[in-house]
Amino acid sequence: MTDFAATRALFDLPPGVAYLDGNSLGPLPRAAVARMERRMREEWGGMLIGGWNKAGWMAQPRSLGDRIGRLIGAEPGHVVLGDTLSIKVFQALAACLAMRPDRRVVLSDLGNFPSDLYMAEGLAGMLGRGHALRTPEPEAVEAAIGEDVAVLMLTEVDYRTGRRHDMARLTRKAHEAGALVVWDLAHSAGALPVDVAGGGADFAVGCTYKFLNGGPGAPAFIYVAPRHADGAVPALSGWLGHRAPFAFEPSYRPGEGIERMRVGTPPVLAMAALEAAMDVWDGVDMEDLRRESLRLGDRFIAGVERACPELVLATPREHERRGSQVSFRHPEGYAVMQALIARGVVGDFRAPDILRFGITPLYVGEAEIDRAVEALAEVMAERLWDRAEYRKRAAVT
Ligand SMILES: Cc1ncc(COP(=O)(O)O)c(C=O)c1O
Repeated sequence: MTDFAATRALFDLPPGVAYLDGNSLGPLPRAAVARMERRMREEWGGMLIGGWNKAGWMAQPRSLGDRIGRLIGAEPGHVVLGDTLSIKVFQALAACLAMRPDRRVVLSDLGNFPSDLYMAEGLAGMLGRGHALRTPEPEAVEAAIGEDVAVLMLTEVDYRTGRRHDMARLTRKAHEAGALVVWDLAHSAGALPVDVAGGGADFAVGCTYKFLNGGPGAPAFIYVAPRHADGAVPALSGWLGHRAPFAFEPSYRPGEGIERMRVGTPPVLAMAALEAAMDVWDGVDMEDLRRESLRLGDRFIAGVERACPELVLATPREHERRGSQVSFRHPEGYAVMQALIARGVVGDFRAPDILRFGITPLYVGEAEIDRAVEALAEVMAERLWDRAEYRKRAAVT
């Protein structure tokens, strides 16, 4: 059994804060500070350029990729880190479109994160071959899978509502229609058990700064199924994805397998923090995490519905249709969230009316859930949100 009291002690959270925003930015793993200092002083400071070889910086996108791979059910050697998630979406999508040259439709849904849709639009425009992006409602996506679809690109867990797609079912359906599938695991990796290999995903991408706690701006990851690893054409043909980067050949040759999804210099400092974050996962059983996440989520839903009748649940109640966040709707959601944050309960807001709460058992337990319910009840009952200062939108919501 995973000891969640022990994992909680591994995080440095400000005293008095109930942090329910790990679905957006995970908190600081205590060990990251010393790890970062070591990387800076001993490795960067002491080894200078020798750090690439002596400290193994160049190999880290693969070794950390494999540690993430364990959490998402990937075969060893098929995940690599680098860049941002938007870039990884672009790479996966471009590779898929190249593998289905006779088809012109990218199918996604309106619940997908806008950056994924924007990247698809940009890529379609760049290709100039008449590709179209279709975005039905999430519930209608299965019926929209047809023989003209080149690639189905979905985010497994909806960033606003926490609704979870059935990865295995939709992947099977897409494959039956001859399409490829890209799964965005931004709200899945570290949030619940994922099985990209068993689920048949062709490509999967995700970030490491949310449930994985890698820190702000931590690098993204990409998974390529072994059957595509040596066939996928890299659209971003950077030197570190070359078969022999240090041969400095004048022309690009794709690297072996997942190596070709590397682009340029890896973020060495950011990977130090991520390395410390991944150590936390070594003691975690994903089935235990899921059980605890659902139990705490149910407790939060029941508490809020009992105490705050004006908040409307946006997250599915059924366990199998839910990720690891709980969201409620309210027309003044932004102000409500600011009032809550002022009381030490941190969640976030997504337009137009969603209050999001991340349920992260690594460092959130019943005490934080109950405190959040209590604070929300007070904010709603006494209309504490109804102040001009709470309506003033910050750049990041
Ligand atoms: C589902 C999803 N996809 C893509 C992104 C964009 O990620 P990045 O800013 O790392 O490119 C996000 C960011 O939150 C996201 O939640």
